[in-house]
Formats: sequence, C-alpha cells, structure tokens
Amino acid sequence: MTAVVLEGFDLVKRFGSTVALDGVGLAVGRGEAVAIMGPSGSGKSTLLHCLAGITRPDAGEVHLLGQRVDAMGERQRSALRRTRFGFVFQFGQLLPELPAEENVALPLMLGGTSRAEAVRRAREWFGPLGLGGMEGRRPGELSGGQAQRVAIARALITRPAVVFADEPTGALDQATGHDTMRLLVEATRGNDASLVVVTHDPQVARWCDRTVEVRDGRILTGAGTAAGPYPGHDARGYPGHDAQAHPGHDVRGHPGNDGPGSLTRILPGRNG
Ligand SMILES: Nc1ncnc2c1ncn2[C@@H]1O[C@H](COP(=O)(O)OP(=O)(O)O)[C@@H](O)[C@H]1O
Ligand SMILES: [Mg+2]
Repeated sequence: MTAVVLEGFDLVKRFGSTVALDGVGLAVGRGEAVAIMGPSGSGKSTLLHCLAGITRPDAGEVHLLGQRVDAMGERQRSALRRTRFGFVFQFGQLLPELPAEENVALPLMLGGTSRAEAVRRAREWFGPLGLGGMEGRRPGELSGGQAQRVAIARALITRPAVVFADEPTGALDQATGHDTMRLLVEATRGNDASLVVVTHDPQVARWCDRTVEVRDGRILTGAGTAAGPYPGHDARGYPGHDAQAHPGHDVRGHPGNDGPGSLTRILPGRNG
C-alpha cells in the first residue's frame, strides 16, 4: 500500500457568490504524480492553492503527514510552504536580476543556508537538468523551457514532500512543453517527492500515475490514491520507493540529502 502524504477532505471555497470548490476530497500518495485536468474556471488552481496552504478553505481539512495545514496560521503555513513544498508556476516566477544559480539557491538561503553553500548545492542541479554552463545566466537570457527547468530545480532543492505545478508548460510550445513536463515528473519522482500538476494537456497523463477531472468545483474521477505500487516505475527503470531506501518525508525535513540524488541516474546525459 502507498502511504498518503497529502490529503484534502470535503474542501469548500467560495469567492463571493462563486463556489470555486464544492466539497472536494483528494489524496496524494508518497511519490505519486497526480495530474489535475478540467475546463478553465473549474477550480483547479483553487484546489491546488488549498492543498498547498496558500489559500485557506472555507470548510474542509488539509492534512500533510498528519498535520492539519488548514488550521495553521499564516506564519506556520508560510514556513511549511518553504520547507515541505516546492512550486512551479506558468512563468515569471524567477527573479530577473539574479543569475540562474542564485534563483535555484534562494529557497535554501531563505532557510538559513549560507550563500556559498546554497549556490554550491544549486550548481549540482544544472548538469542533470541539461542546464550545464547556464549557471550564471539571468532569466532573460534563458529560453522558456530552460527557465522552467531552473524553476524545477528551485522547487526541488529543499527536498520537498510535495511539488505543486500550475500549468507549468502553458507558455511553452508543445514539444518543449512535453519535454519540460516529462522532466518535471521524472525529477520529482527521482527525488521521492509527490507531484500535483494542473495541466490542459491530455498527453501529460501519460507521465503521471493518475489523472483527476475537475468540473464546477467537484471531482468527477480519480479522487483516491492509486492502489498498491506503481507498475510504471519499475517498467521504466526508475528507482524504487520503499521505506528503507528513502527514509525521508517526515515533518522535520530530509537531513543528509544535499544533492540532486537519483536525478543523475534517471537523466543521463540530457542536454538542450
Ligand atoms: N481570488 C479570486 N477572487 C474571486 N474569484 C475567484 C478567485 N480565484 C478564483 N475565483 C473564481 O473561482 C472559480 C475557480 O477558479 P480557478 O480555481 O482559478 O479555476 P481554474 O484554475 O480551474 O481555471 C472561477 O469562477 C474563478 O473566477
Ligand atoms: Mg488555474
């Protein structure tokens, strides 16, 4: 059985007379990649924001590894987002005045790691993500796909339990978008994090373990976790997800994890 990392129960969120979420439940298993699909305005982003502790639901609960996220104050939720979650949004999220390596290092620096150490660890991500040589470039000197790979590194560098991505390839052409999405899924999986990704691209479901359909603030299909182990992982040669091999994922963080880990093994020689 797959342990549940993150779970929303009966989530309700209203904006004035608009009911954005109308009683949504969703469980995300450890290391599981869940695609959220649905028409514009159906509540996908609101669901992601509630699960990620960005928005407080009007009713319902969000649990991260047994902790009540919805009951936390803003400071606690902010700390949780910084330490346990990673985020990849559509675009414009990198700080334009900072070189790529400092953009990646930023979450570590915000957590108290020295600048030199944070940048050293950030640089380790560039090769595996096909970004070798781009460490010193400003975001304006990167292509859209490259900038999103920098954002993926920034989302993963703190070893989050869950990565949230809201239409991360929405501003890219289709080929670059697919490349970026596959990399996001593989890198997240390779680092034993769960992924919740909002997308309009039905092909993305191919790389995820499960697709959830949202309509008018409700989930149509796919609310539970996938039962048992994911056969796709073994078939595609990804590292396993047993508890002994990956003792991380407790509320205190991931001591001893300080590099891209298995990313180098699952993405040999990627370039571009
Ligand atoms: N901050 C907000 N203020 C007012 N209405 C909002 C806000 N955020 C979302 N909504 C409304 O809630 C509904 C769901 O929005 P959203 O979750 O952004 O949908 P999606 O991401 O699926 O396009 C929409 O009707 C939207 O207009
Ligand atoms: Mg949205």
